[in-house]
Amino acid sequence: MTLNIILLGPPGAGKGTQAVRLEDEHGMVQLSTGDMLRAAVKAGTPIGVQAKAVMDAGELVSDEIVSGLIGERLDQLGSDVSVIFDGYPRTAAQAQALDGILSARGRKLDHVIELQVEEDALVDRITGRFSCAKCGAGYHDRYKLPKVEDTCDVCGSHEFKRRPDDNEETVRTRMAEYRAKTAPILPIYEARGIVTHVDGMAPIDEVNDAIETILATAGQSVHPAPVIEAPRGTG
Ligand code: AP5
Repeated sequence: MTLNIILLGPPGAGKGTQAVRLEDEHGMVQLSTGDMLRAAVKAGTPIGVQAKAVMDAGELVSDEIVSGLIGERLDQLGSDVSVIFDGYPRTAAQAQALDGILSARGRKLDHVIELQVEEDALVDRITGRFSCAKCGAGYHDRYKLPKVEDTCDVCGSHEFKRRPDDNEETVRTRMAEYRAKTAPILPIYEARGIVTHVDGMAPIDEVNDAIETILATAGQSVHPAPVIEAPRGTG
């Protein structure tokens, strides 16, 4: 069964971390507008040039640009490929655009999984984040270190990098953008009965287990939105 799910949550909630797990475990494809925009910045495309200053400031790139990227990326996938939207939609206009993008491609939105987190923990998560410069595998100074010091678990590279927008000041702006523009789209999906809330403060493996439980019941009604409890911890 083909699934189309949204991982929703503020910066640092663990959307990317969990999306990569779902790719590995289920062959789903992660559609991260943040990753697409960073690739455009790196390649110096017109979209990248336009997006760079906005991203560095922690503000939102235009709805037209990100919805265009999502449509293009979906067109490159087979209709039988299950997808995880990570960091999209982020505004009511994007949520509306996504409905059209999906229906034009014979898809429908199955689930919205909201990762619920305490804002105070997010600055710590984001400022401690780094990734492999070669393969992009994600790590954290305290919560997810490479198994062998300074060596990527996945590709063995010794080079790592940090995102330019992962500083405290920009993170605070990103959180304010989330509160003002993204959190308000949740009720749209709650009204459709497709939202499940997951405790994103639990360790990474336990958040993953909670999401697995949701996927295992995919196709069943989840209204009213339940809370999947997972023990608290630091991953
Ligand atoms: P984007 O790349 O989407 O960034 P974000 O939403 O701010 O999300 P992050 O990637 O920071 O967090 P995440 O939830 O993926 O957390 P992660 O798993 O890495 O967007 C960047 C920018 O692009 C935006 O500011 C905007 O300018 C632009 N943009 C993108 N999409 C857009 C759109 N649709 N519209 C307009 N503009 C757009 O985890 C964080 C860290 O915590 C990691 O180190 C991880 O190891 C650790 N961690 C994860 N889970 C746990 C856990 N359970 N316990 C302990 N540590 C954990």
